[in-house]
Amino acid sequence: MKTLAIDGDRLWRSLMDLARIGAYKDERTGLLGVNRLALTDADGEGRRLVKKWFEEAGLQVRVDRIGNVYGRRKGAKDVEPVLSGSHIDSVPTGGAFDGVLGVLGALEVFRTLDDARVTTMRPLEVGFFTDEEGCRFGTDMLGSAVAVGRIPLEKAYALEDKKGIAVKTELDRLGFVGTANERIAPPHAYVECHIEQGPILRAANMDLGVVTGVQAISWQELTIQGKSAHAGTTPMGLRKDAGVAAARICVHMNELATSGRFGAEMRATMGGFDPHPGLVNIVPGRVRCTVDLRNPEDVKMAEAEKELAAFLNKLEKEMGVAIEARQTAKTGRIHFSSDVQAVIAAKMKAAGYVFQHIISGAGHDAQEMASLCPTAMIFVPGEYDGISHNPREYSTPEQCTRGVGILLDTILELAG
Ligand code: GLV
Ligand code: MN
Ligand code: MN
Repeated sequence: MKTLAIDGDRLWRSLMDLARIGAYKDERTGLLGVNRLALTDADGEGRRLVKKWFEEAGLQVRVDRIGNVYGRRKGAKDVEPVLSGSHIDSVPTGGAFDGVLGVLGALEVFRTLDDARVTTMRPLEVGFFTDEEGCRFGTDMLGSAVAVGRIPLEKAYALEDKKGIAVKTELDRLGFVGTANERIAPPHAYVECHIEQGPILRAANMDLGVVTGVQAISWQELTIQGKSAHAGTTPMGLRKDAGVAAARICVHMNELATSGRFGAEMRATMGGFDPHPGLVNIVPGRVRCTVDLRNPEDVKMAEAEKELAAFLNKLEKEMGVAIEARQTAKTGRIHFSSDVQAVIAAKMKAAGYVFQHIISGAGHDAQEMASLCPTAMIFVPGEYDGISHNPREYSTPEQCTRGVGILLDTILELAG
């Protein structure tokens, strides 16, 4: 069979067309960023456009009850499909590639097969999953976690954003509560192309990466209750300053991650910090803040969580504040299928690419699918130290074309 090649220009045009939805000008850099926060109007507009593209590509489209959208391309036999995809929601300060490359990349693969009139033995499916980012409703990989049964539908529906608006309310408002069962039957295999979102591949001058798995992720929301007071009149010794408590937790987390006690790859971040009432001359009586811990080893992650919990206890006693910790997301270390990794690596080798195996630092829908079927991912390097979740997020057209070309080759092999 003649070797097939994807149309890199068409892929790039699709990426740039979708990036216009939710586009905003970043004040500091002047760059165009993307804000398609899950289940906002912009996400709804993006969903409608990509769904239309699925339909125009002749795919059989279905929307499930958590708003995941799938497009199916018939195979010669009616057997389990090879599934590919990712997400099109973004963090509020996102770029044009995170998630989108996996969805539009799979669509480009299907378009290429259509152009060449190729029918695979197995059906092919592309999916985009609801709220992968977790920035709004607190839990990442929401749609794919519901699809594989890790999170029950009713629990997902009831999650609320900071304004108390529920997932179900927003899905209804946008018209994305579908009729398809949210629990998917195990596909034959799942493969996802995604940007690396980090500096490793680019620094090593790699064309691409084969992803071995995803590290463990643990998110918490802390509510620190102190005592609000006048900033000018209240002596330092008489305060219960929730802001100081949050700052001490932040510094402790940084120490915990850099100490080496939990391995060299331990990461800890306090990305959200919301003092109340948040005014110049008032001691904050309450702070809500977030904890993001990552570690490639489950045992070390558990130890780090335990140490942090002990520190929170100590701080409560020492400062007289009350700290409520709520776990908002938690996933263990995921190992991807060595068979699917081998197929991806063989395709990269055959194409003459320089590549390496790499564990994912970020969470992905693929990690949920890994509980259902053999799964792996292809990583595309990023420019500017691989910065991501930022308007500067950028992978070149050549880098994207390479990654999606390997997605095509891998899907063809897996689908027969
Ligand atoms: C997903 O983007 C994550 O936070 O890892
Ligand atoms: Mn992503
Ligand atoms: Mn992301």
